[in-house]
Amino acid sequence: ALIPATLIPGDGIGPEVVNAAVAVLDALKAPFEWDMQLAGVAGLQAKGDPLPEDLLASIRRTGLALKGPLTTPIGGGFRSANVRLREAFSLYANVRPARTIVPGRYENIDIVLIRENLEGFYVAHEHYLPIGDDPRAVAISAGANTREGSRRIARYAFEYALKHNRKKITVVHKANVLKILTGLFLEEARNVAREYEGRVQLDDRIVDACAMQLVLNPWQFDMLLCTNLFGDILSDEIAGLVGGLGLAPGANIGKDVAIFEAVHGSAPDIAGRGIANPLSLLLASGLMLDHVGEPEMGDRLRKAIHLTLNEDNIKTPDLGGKASTRDLTQALIQRLA
Ligand code: NAI
Ligand code: MG
Repeated sequence: ALIPATLIPGDGIGPEVVNAAVAVLDALKAPFEWDMQLAGVAGLQAKGDPLPEDLLASIRRTGLALKGPLTTPIGGGFRSANVRLREAFSLYANVRPARTIVPGRYENIDIVLIRENLEGFYVAHEHYLPIGDDPRAVAISAGANTREGSRRIARYAFEYALKHNRKKITVVHKANVLKILTGLFLEEARNVAREYEGRVQLDDRIVDACAMQLVLNPWQFDMLLCTNLFGDILSDEIAGLVGGLGLAPGANIGKDVAIFEAVHGSAPDIAGRGIANPLSLLLASGLMLDHVGEPEMGDRLRKAIHLTLNEDNIKTPDLGGKASTRDLTQALIQRLA
């Protein structure tokens, strides 16, 4: 049976990489029945809203989406459509795996970062305080981590570990300084860890030390469990360990909805030139196949990506090659045959 799924072409290089992903998924005979919906600047131009009601209704119906990057229009007072989308569907877990596909600065990296996606400093209670005649003399930002939200993401990480046969979770915090904000997150990670004793190990790192150790000895890490801000930063760091934004997939997971996307944005500097690397979105498509219970299909896709890069040596310019998006896509499809 076909699985209904929302397809969001997105902005900038979005339609180029989404077309590539759909062509490859077709070649794989992936069981998706796409409902194409506009969002971002494309949604704003066509329907007057970066997050049109038709799109939200589609995701409510399918519970599943593959999403190209969305440009946040500057001016006009629009909030990031990406943040609104996470909030609209309570997508509390952001899963960002980093695995070596092409040997680069490092080899054999295999780390999965789980980022809390709705709380922390991203709730953005920000304001200024005046002093004398300067109305913006002091900048204030209050973050909020709830016990429930901290426990929910910790439990998600441990369940993920069991399901994917991972042995160790490192919870990242700054509980020596942000004793309350990240202390509660650490406390709940430890509470949840007790339920998994003997199956999954928990250790912890202070975020600054963790950032350094990721560069010195990344192989010591299996999974990272992070608050929203630390996860945003460290997920880019681990993407860097395996070759950058062209190879970095992400999944936004909630109770009823899952949205798969590349970690990168709409790349306006290269949009329309046919040279965007579609592999981040294709790796995200692989996560989507795993999610709907088609992990063998996901493995076939990952293997074809591996062979295209390493045996055929076909790479887009961001990976030091000369191939266009279309060249790479065609080569991948050959490898699936
Ligand atoms: P970006 O990720 O779009 O681009 C950063 C750099 O990486 C650029 O030089 C770009 O050419 C390169 N790059 C990114 N993806 C690539 C790919 N697949 N192949 C080859 N090169 C690639 O980040 P930037 O420029 O800060 O943001 C542009 C727009 O994207 C903004 O409007 C931002 O709000 C939005 N954005 C959307 C995201 C999403 O929808 N999830 C995530 C990040 C940014
Ligand atoms: Mg980020």
